[in-house]
Amino acid sequence: AIDISHLRAETGLVTLDDGYANTGSCSSAITFIDGEQGILRYRGVPIEDLAARSSFIETAELLIFGELPDAAERDEFRALLTDSAALHRDMRKHFDGFPVDAHPMAVLSAMINAIQAYDLPEIHITDEAGFRRAAAGLLSKTRTIAAATYKSHVGQPIAYPRPDLAYAENFLHMMFSVPYRDFEPTPEMAHALNMFLVLHADHEQNCSTSTVRMVASGGANLFTSVSAGVTALWGPLHGGANMAVLDMLEGIHDEGIPAQRYISMAKDRSSGVRLMGFGHRVYRNFDPRARVLKEAAYNLLESMHVTDPLLDIAREVEELALADDYFRERRLYPNVDFYSGIILRALGIPKDMFTVLFAIGRTPGWIAHWKEVHDNPAQRIQRPRQLYVGNPLTQWLPRDER
Ligand code: ACO
Repeated sequence: AIDISHLRAETGLVTLDDGYANTGSCSSAITFIDGEQGILRYRGVPIEDLAARSSFIETAELLIFGELPDAAERDEFRALLTDSAALHRDMRKHFDGFPVDAHPMAVLSAMINAIQAYDLPEIHITDEAGFRRAAAGLLSKTRTIAAATYKSHVGQPIAYPRPDLAYAENFLHMMFSVPYRDFEPTPEMAHALNMFLVLHADHEQNCSTSTVRMVASGGANLFTSVSAGVTALWGPLHGGANMAVLDMLEGIHDEGIPAQRYISMAKDRSSGVRLMGFGHRVYRNFDPRARVLKEAAYNLLESMHVTDPLLDIAREVEELALADDYFRERRLYPNVDFYSGIILRALGIPKDMFTVLFAIGRTPGWIAHWKEVHDNPAQRIQRPRQLYVGNPLTQWLPRDER
């Protein structure tokens, strides 16, 4: 029997809730999820409306500042984004120190953390104007760092954003334009990437956002807190799942594994295989983001007049899993990552950048949650308890008696 008498804190009995499945860590006014009904809203606005009609930056402003911007606010924020896109000259030296084949997530988290060492005015957020500048700077520099990592990998000069392009289009320009030849994405490509970013912009207390809030609760600045979020996102059970889904689909395709056999492996816990892009802690009937992305994947490929055998495999795997008792009983459905990789692949984004794209998309949510913590005068430092299961009182022994 485990002695839990030490868990009687001054506020009452401490609960142990594995994975925090039923524990609220905060109250928040940012994002609403109803997991039973598959509802997701940012500041009350349904995700389907935002995905179809809103730009990523407008959605970011909605999340961060609480309201959809009017035309003047929109223009002012866009100007801040343009002004802060470039990396500080000395920060470029820091960037150039990374090996060209460094993992883009490692570069992104380190570089975001480093912003505070170079752009000092941006971290002193003493008023609303300073916060707007810092938020825009972070959104803009995250995009610059991500695209520059790719450029460094392929040996091309960094491309900076064009003021006439929207955020998603600009990212494609910064990835694929080369000197004297601008890359012109089709409207369908720009729309698909914009939609991807909007759908990833926030998702309440997921692993990375809770990390941002945890770090922020200790009083850490915006850049450090968001850098911690990027790191937390990396794992394959969280943001790394979009890469893992594509690995899975490619593996099925390249090795000729029948989809049914893969499903059987995923059902066998001893195989160590999971059906990546399936299952969600909160959504128990469907993930509304996956529905939108599935349709978007088909639309994008059709507009580009290309076929992708991985899309057919994904659909077959989904159909087989949805008809299978194992997945039905556990209420496992495609999540946001199941179809998103097909879209990114069609856009020419390399697989090891998929999770970076997720990070760019999630940055508005991290900023909004950092601000909610920062602005809360009653915020306490987050400090969970534990159930100690180690040694009882144990005597220290001198080395020669051990
Ligand atoms: N494939 C096979 N079995 C699964 C899967 C899966 N993808 N997901 C869950 N299960 C099974 C578990 O083995 C477990 O079975 P058991 O009851 O027999 O022990 C049961 O379903 C419950 O699973 P948990 O891991 O306890 O569920 P949890 O809520 O902790 O995890 C998670 C959710 C991490 C998303 C999980 O479903 C998973 O690993 N999915 C694959 C990875 C993935 O797609 N992650 C992205 C999530 S969305 C996001 O972060 C963007």
